[in-house]
Amino acid sequence: MRKKVLLIGDFGIDDSIALIYCILNPEIELVGVVASYGNTPRLFSIRNASFLLTLGRVQVPLIVGPERPLNGTQPNFALDFHGPYGLGPINPPRISYPLFPFNKIFDIIRRFPGEVHIISVSPGTALALTYTLSREQIITQVPSINIMGGAYLVPGNITPIAEFNFWSDPVAANNTMNQGGNIQNIPLNVTGKALVNQSLIQLITAKNTNPFTPIIGAILSYFLAANLKASPGIQGTPVHDLLAVLALVHPNLFTFVHRKVQVISDQGPAFGQSIADFRLGSNKTAKKRFPSIAVDINVKEFRKEFIRILTSPLRK
Ligand code: RIB
Ligand code: CA
Repeated sequence: MRKKVLLIGDFGIDDSIALIYCILNPEIELVGVVASYGNTPRLFSIRNASFLLTLGRVQVPLIVGPERPLNGTQPNFALDFHGPYGLGPINPPRISYPLFPFNKIFDIIRRFPGEVHIISVSPGTALALTYTLSREQIITQVPSINIMGGAYLVPGNITPIAEFNFWSDPVAANNTMNQGGNIQNIPLNVTGKALVNQSLIQLITAKNTNPFTPIIGAILSYFLAANLKASPGIQGTPVHDLLAVLALVHPNLFTFVHRKVQVISDQGPAFGQSIADFRLGSNKTAKKRFPSIAVDINVKEFRKEFIRILTSPLRK
């Protein structure tokens, strides 16, 4: 049976690759998309998601997500990495795709009880609000929640120690990571290993197999250049958000450990930092009720899957 996915993104480049993967993968049935602020202002995030859904001939509820973090401060966008509109060099056409209010999330979860997997690849604000606004524990009907965010004992990507999604709304990230239940956390520890270089991009875009091919080429090349500028010498660009989707459909590609997680929201150098206990022996206190954190990935199999799906034709 296909897995039903509700994707929450801040539709910049890697979010868009994650969305394209969801559209092209026959193992996934997209049942809704939430467009949040993050890499770009919310307006661009909505515009990019509308563009890609239209190109993929997909009609699902596109839900208007939050436009700022829970503490009300102005967000910091990541336009240096994602381009002026969030899609690298592309300024997508304005498409009037039907939009839905936030509570549509609950209609979707109710419509398919026990079947809707949530994948959150933006700042955690939308997911935290989903928990807060969820009536009658509807959120407990969700079989799994995959969250891209955090960096454990590895360098951050927005500060020396913090990862962008958790740093953008650490209060939301801390709330959601402590909700228990079936949370899979996909941090920089693994997204920093699954890199895409220019020859892999060329391999994927050599033939126009689907309507996304030229976009995939343009946005990944842009992301590669931006990441190389920020981190000279890296072997390719990460595609962070895609890995949160992969962890749902191919969990066997990852190594997970259960750990309690704390995300720091105190102002100061640790703002946005994610902390878990990885001392030797800490596995003895690891409990299943804590989130499972991906700590390793099979990079060879990741590449195969990346090529397989992104070069697939559009489903009928
Ligand atoms: O740190 C990586 C995350 O930040 C990804 O979700 C990427 O899209 C950016 O928002
Ligand atoms: Ca993202």
